[in-house]
Amino acid sequence: MRFDTGCSCCRDDFYDFEAWLMKNVNVAAHPLIQHKLTLMRDKTCSTKGFRQLLNEIGMLLCYELTRDLPVEAVKIETPMAEMMAPKLAGKKLVFAPILRAGTGFLEGMLELVPSARVAHIGLYRDPETLEAVEYYFKAPHDIADRLVILIDPMLATGNSACAAVKLLLKHGAREIRFACLLAAPEGIEKLRCMHPDVQIWTAAIDNHLDTHGYIVPGLGDAGDRMFGTK
Ligand code: URA
Repeated sequence: MRFDTGCSCCRDDFYDFEAWLMKNVNVAAHPLIQHKLTLMRDKTCSTKGFRQLLNEIGMLLCYELTRDLPVEAVKIETPMAEMMAPKLAGKKLVFAPILRAGTGFLEGMLELVPSARVAHIGLYRDPETLEAVEYYFKAPHDIADRLVILIDPMLATGNSACAAVKLLLKHGAREIRFACLLAAPEGIEKLRCMHPDVQIWTAAIDNHLDTHGYIVPGLGDAGDRMFGTK
């Protein structure tokens, strides 16, 4: 399997392209996630329903991608006895939604990790070139000490994801994971090529991009469906 993304920096001599491509990808195959995703894909899903489902999947995806967070034993006292019990170690996470659709995942993730910090990344997609253009960035000053979960429902061309990772690195981030609802093979390849250290969590990998950079079969424009702007 080969996809033509124009990106071939480090894969040419790899004997199994699919294994190379999938090395960084975690597909959250939980039946609840898959069921909710199917409801969202349906074009008759209401704006309200779409937002609620995105929120719920955000929470479930967050549960999956925090599975390996480090914990440390702390001494506590239950009503019955003292004990050593596990707590999350280190500084709180940073959730970094790419505006505007990334905010759809944020609420659900914050419900699960309420003390997380939030970085906002404003990027829009140039309709002609499909390149990401930055218009806003605000992140916690100590981002270098925190695990950053970059969130955007759609990993399509990979341009926005790569631009966002680059911005986060420029501001000091050292550990970044990427969470999305749907990924196109083209976007996975681009992110894998440009930022091989970034692990991806997605609910599904779709077939391809159309000529406008939309994921097929996909679910259409996630921002428009979330906010009812079309
Ligand atoms: N962004 C979207 O909202 N949908 C796509 O299919 C691709 C990018």
